[in-house]
Amino acid sequence: MMAVGMFVLLLFVLTAFRGSISIPPHDEVAQMARYVVHASDWCSMATISTQAVVRGLPFSNVFSVSDGPLGKGTGEPYLYLTPLEISVHDIQANPEVSLAMSLATTDYCRKQKFDPQSPLCCRVILSGRILEVNSTEIDFAKKALFSRHPAMPDWPHDHGWYFAKLNITNIWVLDYFGGIKTVTPEEYYRVKA
Ligand SMILES: *[C@@H]1O[C@H](CO)[C@@H](O)[C@H](O)[C@H]1NC(C)=O
Ligand SMILES: *[C@@H]1O[C@H](CO)[C@@H](O)[C@H](O)[C@H]1NC(C)=O
Repeated sequence: MMAVGMFVLLLFVLTAFRGSISIPPHDEVAQMARYVVHASDWCSMATISTQAVVRGLPFSNVFSVSDGPLGKGTGEPYLYLTPLEISVHDIQANPEVSLAMSLATTDYCRKQKFDPQSPLCCRVILSGRILEVNSTEIDFAKKALFSRHPAMPDWPHDHGWYFAKLNITNIWVLDYFGGIKTVTPEEYYRVKA
């Protein structure tokens, strides 16, 4: 009787957890990468600095990001940038960057009580080149960013904001114990949203 009670309790707890936020299985690495990227409203972007005091050194900064309106992720990390911004100066000199995104920026890790540095608090690191979004892709980039960042349309109109994205060349995923894993851009983009 006791055992049955425990079983029912366990089932209840598991159901409650699954019902809260469910993430892809940790061995579905490409799917996990797409999940973390889509769930992220912001990321850290590391550039090679052009500032005199740290020239040539890594410089990490915070940026709003979106890979599509909620439920319509494409995997393409879109950004809204201004040439006035300090990291954008770096990008103008060298567009090679790395973006880090983590479920620590969502409710998931907090609810599960996973520390942001725990391998269970899933994260993705992307590297590649920042490209300005071309005219055919601007409408989508705008919808992707403005739907998730409603303050953006009101940002100072004289700052020369433009839509950009990361052309991803390498992807690392840490979503479980046993070390970081890699996914190719082909595997990543093959995942159905
Ligand atoms: C714009 O970029 C998209 C995605 O990279 C590409 O498919 C499309 O051909 C490009 N269009 C133009 C006009 O360059
Ligand atoms: C994006 O990166 C891929 C792989 O490095 C490269 O082949 C491609 O030319 C890049 N696209 C653009 C528009 O720079």
